[in-house]
Amino acid sequence: MRYNEVMTYRVGTSFFKRTIRDVPLDTQTVLMRADYNVPLGPDGQISDDLRIRASLPTIRYLLERGCKVVIISHLGRPVGRDSSLSLEPVAARLAKLLRRDVRFVNDCIGDRVYQAVKRAPKASVLVLENLRFYAQEEADDPQFARQITEATKARYFVQDGFGVVHRAHASTHAITLYIPSVAGFLLEKEYMTITTAMQAPKRPLVAVLGGAKVSDKIGVIERFVSIADTIIMGGAMANTLLAYKGLSMGASKVESDQNTLLDRVYAAARKKVGDRVDDFIVLPTDVAVATSLDPHMERRIVDVQELHPADSALDIGDASIEQMVSVINTAQTVIWNGTLGYAEMPTFAHGSARLALELAEHPRIMSIIGGGDTADFVLKWDGHHGESFSHVSTGGGASLELMAGAKLPGIESLLDAPR
Ligand code: 3PG
Repeated sequence: MRYNEVMTYRVGTSFFKRTIRDVPLDTQTVLMRADYNVPLGPDGQISDDLRIRASLPTIRYLLERGCKVVIISHLGRPVGRDSSLSLEPVAARLAKLLRRDVRFVNDCIGDRVYQAVKRAPKASVLVLENLRFYAQEEADDPQFARQITEATKARYFVQDGFGVVHRAHASTHAITLYIPSVAGFLLEKEYMTITTAMQAPKRPLVAVLGGAKVSDKIGVIERFVSIADTIIMGGAMANTLLAYKGLSMGASKVESDQNTLLDRVYAAARKKVGDRVDDFIVLPTDVAVATSLDPHMERRIVDVQELHPADSALDIGDASIEQMVSVINTAQTVIWNGTLGYAEMPTFAHGSARLALELAEHPRIMSIIGGGDTADFVLKWDGHHGESFSHVSTGGGASLELMAGAKLPGIESLLDAPR
């Protein structure tokens, strides 16, 4: 299955929550939680609309059934009202993608919302203003949730904002106390794709982990130690592991306070694979270094044993890239979370770009790209649509937590699927 805008992909019947297929919502008013927390460029323009495109299948399904679709979301982390974080441009982009009118309402509670929803015809779409303009949203305030349901008079709540279901907020948790709440197609697809790959992957399963910090991803690292066939490490995270193994990493970013956690990780790895541990957790053997983050800095490759005190490791090196490619070629499933270097700078994006190319050229490999920075990178790399990969997750923190095996409040609080 390749990711595409239409997402014809349908998962099986084993999702444990009720979905929009399971309730009689024809011609009803439906309140849909999306995650339209999209990246904005310097002029406030939407720089990537994956999350908006990914919400289209659910919206189209609801429209085909004559529903009034009232969409709520957050954008950014505003403190009070902040016009630079209004959802109005998102509503405009949604209208363009749907090729139909989308009404924007500049509040998410109160009479203005009530009147707009009441006047809206059947089979229409409204987008309400940023939920986080109210502090009550993040406080999971039941009163605020009630105000949203009262203003919209919605018959059903549809959770389709996969990227935010790891938060227990008014629009992901408290709201489910007031109206029957079910999952949309995006939430179901993300959940099923990620959990199937974690629980019953086609093997060999190779996990590629990068990004800045071991401490941010310890849950996922431990889970992969238990389920993966090989783990490839890159990014600043690999610096921390190399330093843990006693190498001198010069001026590289290193978390020196993670040794207890890493003792645990390596003990579990040794228990699983014995003395093959260095083939199981694959660390770079060489790195691309620079002495500053100047965009004109040349890419200098050094062996991991030979960093100078002023060198910062900013990408995996050429030999490590080749080694990574040979491991990837053995895989049937690759789950990739975290870029392998300082990928914002093309000079230090070689490792990540080579991995993206390898996955794109081998569609037989089921490739699952964790959200956040990794998704941003592959979307830019392949021209913003992500079709080169089996699944590009719309969730950053949510996909990490799901991969780590956590229960996510925005999913748990939905109605259970009929047995
Ligand atoms: C995300 O982008 O990860 C989600 O939209 C959640 O946003 P938050 O981290 O601000 O809660």
